[in-house]
Amino acid sequence: MKIAYYHASRFGNGAAVAARFAELMAERGVTVDVQHMRDADPKHLPAADVYVFSAPGFMGKPRRTARSFVGRVRLEPGARYAILTTEAAVKPDKNGQMPDPAKLEHWQQVMPTMRKLLEGKGVEVAEGTVKVTDLKGPLEDGWEEKVRAFADQISSIQSSAA
Ligand SMILES: Cc1cc2nc3c(=O)[nH]c(=O)nc-3n(C[C@H](O)[C@H](O)[C@H](O)COP(=O)(O)O)c2cc1C
Repeated sequence: MKIAYYHASRFGNGAAVAARFAELMAERGVTVDVQHMRDADPKHLPAADVYVFSAPGFMGKPRRTARSFVGRVRLEPGARYAILTTEAAVKPDKNGQMPDPAKLEHWQQVMPTMRKLLEGKGVEVAEGTVKVTDLKGPLEDGWEEKVRAFADQISSIQSSAA
C-alpha cells in the first residue's frame, strides 16, 4: 500500500502534520511518500493507492502554490485522493466579538476551493482540517488526534478495498 502526500506548507505546520501522518501510517504498514508541492510535477505523479493534497489557508483560499498544483494535477481514472487543510482557528476580536458568519464564510473557502479544483479528477475518500492557533502556528491542542482521525478515514477505505 502506498500513499503519495503533497503539501504546500510555508511555516512548517502542514509539514509537521504530514510527518505525523506518515508515522501513523508506517505503524500500520503503509508507506507514505511526503513531498512539498513545489518539488513535484502535478502532471506526472507516481502511482499510488491514495493521493493526499494538503493546503494551508491564505486570504480565505488555499495558498497559491496549492491552488496551482491541484488545478494542474492529473490522476489516473478512478484514482483515490484525500484533502487536508491547515487553517487559522477563528478567534473573538479585541472586544470579545466573534466574526459575522457571512464574513467568516468568505474567509473559509479553503476546503471548498480544494474540493472544486479536484472535482472530477478522481474519487475523494477523506477530508480533514487541522487548525493553527495563530496565523503562523502553532498547531492547535489535540492536533495529533485530528491527524489520527484523518489517517483512520484513509485506513478504513484501504481495508474495505483490500
Ligand atoms: C497572511 C496570512 C493570511 C492567512 N489567511 C488565512 C485565511 O484566510 N484562512 C485561514 O484559515 N488561515 C489563514 N492563515 C493561516 C494559515 O492557514 C496558516 O499559516 C497555515 O495553515 C500554516 O500552515 P503552514 O505552517 O504549513 O504554512 C493565514 C496566514 C497568514 C500568515
